Amino acid sequence: MKSSPQILLAASLLFLFSRPISSSPAPRNPTGPLLSDGHSCVGCVLIVSIVEQLAQVHNSTTWKEMEQLCSYLPEKLFLKSICYFTAEMFGPDIIKLLSSKMNADVVCHALHFCKQKAGQPLCHLYKPPQEGLNRALNRARKIVRHSPTLTSPGSMMGICSIPALAKICQKIEYALSTTLPFEDADGDKFSVFPTLRGFYWRGRDCNDRNRNIYPGRRPENWDVQQDSNCNGIWGVDPKDGIPYEKKFCEGSEAKGLIVLGDSAAAHFHIPPEWLIAEHMSAKTFSNLPKALSNELDWPELSGTTGFLNSTSGLPDHSIYLRLRQRNRCNHRDYQNISKNGASSKNLLKFMGSLSRNRLLDHPAIVIYTMLGNDVCNGYIDSVSKMTTPQDMRAHVMETLTFLNSRLPPGSYVVLYGLADGRFLWDHLHDQYHPLGQLNRDVTYEQLYAFLSCVQVNPCRGWMSSNETLRTLTSERAKQLSNVLETIAASEKFANVSLLYLDYPFKEMSEEWQRRGGETWQLIEPADGFHPSEVASQLAAQFFWEKILQRWPQVLGKENPFNDQIERLFGDQGGH
Ligand SMILES: *[C@@H]1O[C@H](CO)[C@@H](O)[C@H](O)[C@H]1NC(C)=O
Ligand SMILES: *[C@@H]1O[C@H](CO)[C@@H](O)[C@H](O)[C@H]1NC(C)=O
Ligand SMILES: *[C@@H]1O[C@H](CO)[C@@H](O)[C@H](O)[C@H]1NC(C)=O
Ligand SMILES: *[C@@H]1O[C@H](CO)[C@@H](O)[C@H](O)[C@H]1NC(C)=O
Ligand SMILES: *[C@@H]1O[C@H](CO)[C@@H](O)[C@H](O)[C@H]1NC(C)=O
Repeated sequence: MKSSPQILLAASLLFLFSRPISSSPAPRNPTGPLLSDGHSCVGCVLIVSIVEQLAQVHNSTTWKEMEQLCSYLPEKLFLKSICYFTAEMFGPDIIKLLSSKMNADVVCHALHFCKQKAGQPLCHLYKPPQEGLNRALNRARKIVRHSPTLTSPGSMMGICSIPALAKICQKIEYALSTTLPFEDADGDKFSVFPTLRGFYWRGRDCNDRNRNIYPGRRPENWDVQQDSNCNGIWGVDPKDGIPYEKKFCEGSEAKGLIVLGDSAAAHFHIPPEWLIAEHMSAKTFSNLPKALSNELDWPELSGTTGFLNSTSGLPDHSIYLRLRQRNRCNHRDYQNISKNGASSKNLLKFMGSLSRNRLLDHPAIVIYTMLGNDVCNGYIDSVSKMTTPQDMRAHVMETLTFLNSRLPPGSYVVLYGLADGRFLWDHLHDQYHPLGQLNRDVTYEQLYAFLSCVQVNPCRGWMSSNETLRTLTSERAKQLSNVLETIAASEKFANVSLLYLDYPFKEMSEEWQRRGGETWQLIEPADGFHPSEVASQLAAQFFWEKILQRWPQVLGKENPFNDQIERLFGDQGGH
């Protein structure tokens, strides 16, 4: 049987929270369970905590608040039904345990969502109760032993075989698996759909039925009849008979932006509102279905290829929007080939979804940005599993050889260095996690230790109280950045030029402080790992300024016809 308890748990929407992280710490068996025991445990502790806190802030009962939480969820994707189903199944036991003053850790161990592995400690997010974890757990087990309800997660097996729920199981499976960038059945990679790797990820196709029409191509017959490159500029000026595309874009050095990146590049984000009981309402989860079908990434808001106004309220634009502002002929020419968990090695498997025709398309600026997954993993012997400088060199050279064969001459590849993730611990360890803000009882130090204990820490090297380990991780990251820098300085390719940039965390942090912010705001609050939207926007600013100052030829000329294009074509068809 294909369904496993973990998939079923995944199917209970609640447990989607259990993946606040992007890189899979252990190699996943492709036919095996989607979520590890560790994920189920984290998910359970999060949900039980939220229910408990809802009851606290509303001065209400656990049962009522479980129903309340389900009522907040959207109907879409059966999320609400699945929530009620789950509440029905586990609710009675959870209520009994919580009313006996058990905390979320104990509840989840008693209900077998958290398992103690042989030779491993009992994992816990909260400080252990006074009587000690083991004694509390023994008491809890007695309370649920004679329970008439089904208490094992395994008993949920089969939920995915209920026809009405099979679809949602598939959908969630899709969202949670680290999928390849979206491709149509016919291999056409641009799309009119926003999510499922559609136009939130790449420029929107303006004619999905014609494969010769897509963003980034050099115009066919100057777009006299139709907009062959989807930049919104086409037709003929009736005054002089000259096609607009020729008049405004010929020789304008039009180019596209392609990002090869990791979850940071894709802007992995779990809205902290999903975890904060105090302000929870039906509005809180309205964006959940969309987030799920986008792998919990929000590329449309990312600092590189984002095209929507930022939710952070910052006026800064993404690199794509700046490139478009510089030359409106670049409208819609972006591709975000980023994937949660991407590293120098696994990029080799999915970079083929990059779409650029060497002969027909404009040159591209490719940003290679793998901020951490080459040194981040969840293994206990984290250091030995990190990418070595030799392997890094081999992977990157393979990537560049591929790009050289695919990209139109005149393209650029900007290699971004790795981040020095020590800032995570330095700025967060004694702060309260969103889940711990109400009662001041969960710090990031506790969260990191819990994630390590249940073996789902996305970056044991940096999200650790062990200073020696954090330093070793940073040393390796520096070595890998040096490999990138050396390659950019010494290797030559016929069709692409190479540049190197450091990830400017220090400058970003200084700039943010200058604007009145605090450094910890550059980190995603829910996972304590990824760069926040603000960080992504600031990184875009520094990227742009540095390139403009050192290598302006990369960005192409400023188009003197921008105003005329805007006057004639408005928003050029939008995004
Ligand atoms: C919470 O509810 C209980 C019982 O309904 C009531 O006695 C108590 O005063 C309430 N507390 C607050 C702070 O509202
Ligand atoms: C690519 O898209 C993902 C998905 O949202 C986004 O998180 C990421 O920031 C984007 N990558 C870049 C480099 O913009
Ligand atoms: C984005 O912000 C600008 C200026 O703040 C505004 O003019 C524009 O309408 C906004 N666009 C969207 C899609 O909200
Ligand atoms: C560079 O591009 C040209 C065509 O534009 C192609 O013939 C050549 O093979 C490419 N070079 C390499 C090394 O792939
Ligand atoms: C800290 O990490 C280092 C390097 O992995 C390891 O050798 C050492 O045993 C760790 N210290 C503790 C207290 O776990």
